[in-house]
Amino acid sequence: MQAFKPSLLSFLFSLSTPAFSEIERGEVIYKQLCFNCHGVNLDGGIGPSLIDSYWKNGDSYDAIYRSIAKGTTGTEMIAYELVYPEKDLRSLTDFIIGKQEGNRETLRSTYPRDYFKGKRLHPDLFDSIESTSQKKLPENFYYVERMFDGVLRGQSKLFIKSPGKYRLNINGKGRTSIWVNGKEVHYSNDKKPKDTHFDKEFELSSGTHDLEILHEEPTAHSMRFGVRLQKLNGRHWMLTGKSLEGSVPKVVRSGESAKVIRKWIEGLPPRTLLLLLPNKVLLAYDSTSGKIVKGWESAFINQTPSLDSRSQKQSEVKGKELQGIAKTILEGTRFNLLHYETEGDSVKIATLVDGTPKSFRVSPEGGNSYKLTF
Ligand code: HEC
Repeated sequence: MQAFKPSLLSFLFSLSTPAFSEIERGEVIYKQLCFNCHGVNLDGGIGPSLIDSYWKNGDSYDAIYRSIAKGTTGTEMIAYELVYPEKDLRSLTDFIIGKQEGNRETLRSTYPRDYFKGKRLHPDLFDSIESTSQKKLPENFYYVERMFDGVLRGQSKLFIKSPGKYRLNINGKGRTSIWVNGKEVHYSNDKKPKDTHFDKEFELSSGTHDLEILHEEPTAHSMRFGVRLQKLNGRHWMLTGKSLEGSVPKVVRSGESAKVIRKWIEGLPPRTLLLLLPNKVLLAYDSTSGKIVKGWESAFINQTPSLDSRSQKQSEVKGKELQGIAKTILEGTRFNLLHYETEGDSVKIATLVDGTPKSFRVSPEGGNSYKLTF
């Protein structure tokens, strides 16, 4: 990427400020500068995607404005209030918001289950009870923690670009009541009595709508119910899902048993399996050629997040590459890996070599050095 100096840029922009509408002005600035890191289509690069379902710093108008104006210290996202006047920051915010569609600004509140016993789920019920927790979720969909036991109330904005008929698809058990712009569009419970269970098609104009999801799981466990908003004959959005917060970069370290991980690592074939052994030896096994293509000791993996629509980046192996005899043996032989067994600090790996079963052992030799025996 080309290096640039914000001060120089702001100087250039101040020379030529055309009289565009807000959004167009935002688009012009985006295409001159922001695309370098966030991608021409806003789908990410060095910086995160600005159209996926995860917003680290919030997805409300104010939150996005703040992200642009203040930046994030210690990252490549500088405070653009030092570069642009407020008007331009607002245009940028309008431009980014205009690219969003579906659920936004998700607020999740939880309530004790008991209070709702025998009562039909309805937004009015929540006026006279305290929530046990309330959280703005960084994702554009709802989820609860594992072993959650209670009633979920989700409130959000639905941002619709293409007007028309919509419907909800609901999977899973429990009681669910869903409201759009103050009208109930879905109600179901496990007994599904005909007089109360219903599922309506509804009309949405382009613009912002209020969405409310009330849900009680039948038993305490992570939410297994799924809600999907579907435009008839059109695209759809998942309104519930699993938290992506755990998907921020993390380190995979060796554990008590061998771990098999598939990650995209620079310089390795795309279908490489990584075997992270309990003794911190990491073997990269290419299942297509049947070869161990590389080995490391004292290894761990720096994993990048793998969000569905977020830019995919390579993960990184940290460790010391295996040298000498181990390297020669590993790289010269064609294996079919069968299984692994842990014996103390060593790991026995069962393989087929040219069709003949053979196993080899990776054991510590003292210090950070490992021995491979067949
Ligand atoms: C040099 C690279 C770079 C440039 C140029 C850049 N950004 Fe960023 N941007 C980042 C990075 C990295 C982050 C993540 C910061 C963090 O972790 O909080 C980010 C974060 C953001 C976020 C918050 C995303 C979230 O998930 O909450 C927004 C909004 C954003 N940038 C908008 C812009 C706009 C608008 C511009 C142009 C004025 C711009 N960026 C220019 C690198 C860049």
